[in-house]
Amino acid sequence: MTEFPKNFLWGGSSSSAQIEGAYDVDGKGLTVWDVRKINPGTCSFLYASDFYHHYKEDIALMAEMGFKAYRMSIAWARIFPEGEGEINPKGIEFYKNVFNECHKYGIEPIVTIFHFDLPLALEKKYGDWSNRKMMDAYLNYCKVLFENFKDDVKYWLTYNEQNALIFFGAVDMMGGTFKVNDPSNLYTQAHVQILAQAKAIHLCHEMCPDAKIGPAPNITTSYPASSNPLDTIAAMNMDDLRNNFYIDPLVFGTYPGSVWKYFRDNKITIQIEEGDFEIMKTCKPDFIGFNCYGNDTTEYLPFYEQDFSIFEGANNQDISYLIKLMEKPGVGKAVRNPHFMKNSVDGNSYDPYCIRVTARRLNDRYRLPVIVTENGYGRRDTLEADGTIHDQYRIEHLRETIKEIKCGIEEGIDIIGYCPWSAVDLVSTREGISKRYGFIYVDRDEDDEKAKTSEMKRYRKDSFYWYKNVIASNGENLD
Ligand code: BG6
Repeated sequence: MTEFPKNFLWGGSSSSAQIEGAYDVDGKGLTVWDVRKINPGTCSFLYASDFYHHYKEDIALMAEMGFKAYRMSIAWARIFPEGEGEINPKGIEFYKNVFNECHKYGIEPIVTIFHFDLPLALEKKYGDWSNRKMMDAYLNYCKVLFENFKDDVKYWLTYNEQNALIFFGAVDMMGGTFKVNDPSNLYTQAHVQILAQAKAIHLCHEMCPDAKIGPAPNITTSYPASSNPLDTIAAMNMDDLRNNFYIDPLVFGTYPGSVWKYFRDNKITIQIEEGDFEIMKTCKPDFIGFNCYGNDTTEYLPFYEQDFSIFEGANNQDISYLIKLMEKPGVGKAVRNPHFMKNSVDGNSYDPYCIRVTARRLNDRYRLPVIVTENGYGRRDTLEADGTIHDQYRIEHLRETIKEIKCGIEEGIDIIGYCPWSAVDLVSTREGISKRYGFIYVDRDEDDEKAKTSEMKRYRKDSFYWYKNVIASNGENLD
């Protein structure tokens, strides 16, 4: 009979921009997300779930659920309003308070250093990550975090979804001045970001010898669309380009071979400086964090000239647009998979196997412990008149996923924690606050004007009580 390890890190996740609100409070600088163009009908990130003023209540609720860990991020612009230069003491104080509150209940903070919300001043000054001054600013920020929080934080995550920044960010999502039609620029940015992470890992080991640090990419493993060997090769190449490219250099000090071929075929040249690979070669993450919402299914796609301009100004809530973004000419394209499970409550399809497949693949490839830093089921929830929220669809998704994690542990995967997205409701990257993920409901809607002064009352969803039992039984009771 399989058991979850005794010290398994059961928890939930969040990110500063999506949960904190208080975008201009106590000296915080603006971020690229504060000024981002918002999809029609959705709210901004300015007020979010107002965790800034609710953190005590929220962490107490997490403790009530029995959380062992809380994966969160620090807003770079709270620490450095301009991204670098003057430190904002109020920013340091806020996160000290958050960490103290977590420790009060024995909750281990797992802290992402950078989760999409780049200080706007840096973008204005340096443009993008192909300018290595951006990396210097990031490392300086890391140094200040390690100095100030070395007694508070045992688990650090270098970047959230560096690959999403590259994969989607080129077009719409993360702010920044990505040049849509210049893949050489884009992959140079990717290279500099990887180098920045390698340096941050070195720095953390030097400054916080008791802490552990790893990356947190979005790992979406590719299933081949059919038994056609070309689809298998396409899926392998897609894994290299979409996933392995962002971890291999941190563990092996090299990029996967098939990616170099992709670069040659697409006339992509990245700016590499002498010594870059030496830094990567000598860095060693302590674990691999990964966000996983499902796996892709890949069909071979012959080479053609990709026209990126079709993505500009697209409505990024549209799923066909997102699927189109996954097309990699000469590698493969994402297609729908008819074998995914149907949620018996809401009829949507989902893939509970994704975590097991992905965790096993990562653990086999890198021989490092893995931790799920995100996974979840974003849906519209209804707050009933009596203050209840019946999110049975979410419970089903969590139950089936946790079952697969258990099977994975039986198969020998070294998996140390599960932090689904999200602990508390927060603002989705593309779909506002109506698409909810939390165990804890936040009473607000898409109206920013109302949100500004709203109480944002918290409510426990049905999944709150369910997860509490799961944690109390260390994953045994999934009923
Ligand atoms: C992950 C991100 O990709 O997915 C989160 O790290 C994000 O920031 C989450 O919120 C869910 O996606 P979405 O688009 O529903 O917010």
